Amino acid sequence: MSYAAFCDAVLRADLDTQCFAIDTWQGDAHAGYYGEDVYNDLRTFHDPRYAAFSELIRSTFDQALDYFQDGSIDLLHIDGCHSYEAVCHDFNNWRAKLSTRAVVLFHDTNVRERNFGVWKLWSELKMKYPNFEFMHEHGLGVLAFGSEVPEVVLKLCNLSSPSDIAVIRNRFAFSGRSCILEAMHVQAQRDISAAELRVTRTESER
Ligand SMILES: C[S@@+](CC[C@H](N)C(=O)[O-])C[C@H]1O[C@@H](n2cnc3c(N)ncnc32)[C@H](O)[C@@H]1O
Repeated sequence: MSYAAFCDAVLRADLDTQCFAIDTWQGDAHAGYYGEDVYNDLRTFHDPRYAAFSELIRSTFDQALDYFQDGSIDLLHIDGCHSYEAVCHDFNNWRAKLSTRAVVLFHDTNVRERNFGVWKLWSELKMKYPNFEFMHEHGLGVLAFGSEVPEVVLKLCNLSSPSDIAVIRNRFAFSGRSCILEAMHVQAQRDISAAELRVTRTESER
């Protein structure tokens, strides 16, 4: 879901960028273990829309590491297994790959259950780097890691007025909620159509 959102942003803003999604697409202790349908569905969705600039790399994060040059990644989204040990491992392994403009996004900074530990790494990193945290849903940490992070990101990270921060958080929480409601609406319409079809078939069989 988030990877598709990044790719969509690249398309909409007409950016000259390359994107890579790295995942075993087998699942993990937190996401749950899942079957081939997840990868196949994603491939079917991804290729016609994003294949011109994006690749799905089916491997572990560690196996993919050698295929990226040091200092080459401007935006890194970390969203693998969410234990403290796993997220520290992923961040420490990939930090050499980050460019001077790099921003790192940490998914699930606001989850306090099931041995999630992103919040703990986030609480350590936010003392060291400019940052902004979206709190809604599972939380998303924006870390201004590089020494030359774009001005607009620094502006977000340097907000200090509680009311300005609240406006931004509320705006994004509201947008997120609208997306969820829209998806629920589409699913409900599909369910209704399927139910109507079943009724029509049953009636025609009588
Ligand atoms: C929460 S999901 C990620 C969702 C994704 N960020 C998105 O676009 O919405 C976590 C994923 O991490 C993958 N994963 C966990 N540990 C991994 C590892 N060490 N190497 C590769 N993939 C891993 C799992 O297969 C699972 O699909």
